[in-house]
Amino acid sequence: MNHKAIGVFDSGVGGLTVLDAIRQVLPNEDYIFLGDTARVPYGNRTKQTIIRYATSCVHQLVARDVKAIVIACNTASAYALDALTQMLDIPVFGVIEPAAQRAVQLSTNQCVGIIGTRATIHSQAYVHAIQSIKKEVKVYGMPCPLFVPIVEEGWANSDVAKLVVHKYLEDLLKDVELHEDQMDTLILGCTHYPILKAIISKELAEMNKSVELCDCAQATAISLAKELQKTHLLSDSQLPGDACYLVTDDPVQFSSIGQSFMKVPPENVEHIDIV
Ligand code: DGL
Repeated sequence: MNHKAIGVFDSGVGGLTVLDAIRQVLPNEDYIFLGDTARVPYGNRTKQTIIRYATSCVHQLVARDVKAIVIACNTASAYALDALTQMLDIPVFGVIEPAAQRAVQLSTNQCVGIIGTRATIHSQAYVHAIQSIKKEVKVYGMPCPLFVPIVEEGWANSDVAKLVVHKYLEDLLKDVELHEDQMDTLILGCTHYPILKAIISKELAEMNKSVELCDCAQATAISLAKELQKTHLLSDSQLPGDACYLVTDDPVQFSSIGQSFMKVPPENVEHIDIV
């Protein structure tokens, strides 16, 4: 049993989808969320830069005495999980392994699609995670770099979003069909994509494709709860937990964009400098 807070880190505001999913599964825990809003996006950066940024953020959380770290960012999970796990003496959880596990469970055709930032797709982290669970599963990736700005602009339900979602899905499905495969599961491999879930589902239905969406936020929340239980790190509090927020850029902007990412909008947002 452990009453310390859980540290959740993301490149920016998107990780609130993961925090929200975790809070639904573990409502009595306290959380410290750090969004590196001054340096977002991570999704087009190099491995070295992503590891450097992630390391500096996580040190801030460790200095606040968290009991575990969740890397909510898919891009940072893809590149920095191993480095951070080796560096820290508290448990570090990424989002890729839980989503890969869930996708393998969901896919009956043994064919999984993954959409994410350029860096996440190029890392092949999902391919390795999925094929180390079940090596015969075929994995098709498609970077969707326009999704993050569309969501942050508040355009998730617009015609622009519909058009862009259609184009990326069409390109992904063309690649799958070229190889005569049938994708039946699609991983939403980025913090922002749960906000586009409805429109992605609708586009797939209009394209006559029966594809199950695998939300890495939900998969991570369920897996985190199991792991913390196993290692006796859960709090036994019966009261709803608190969350506080640290950001490296403007707290007001974070709160305002953050509202659309969570059921409970972020309050107690504090600015910190990270060098
Ligand atoms: N949080 C990032 C991810 O999940 C998306 C935003 C960014 O590029 O930093 O990959």
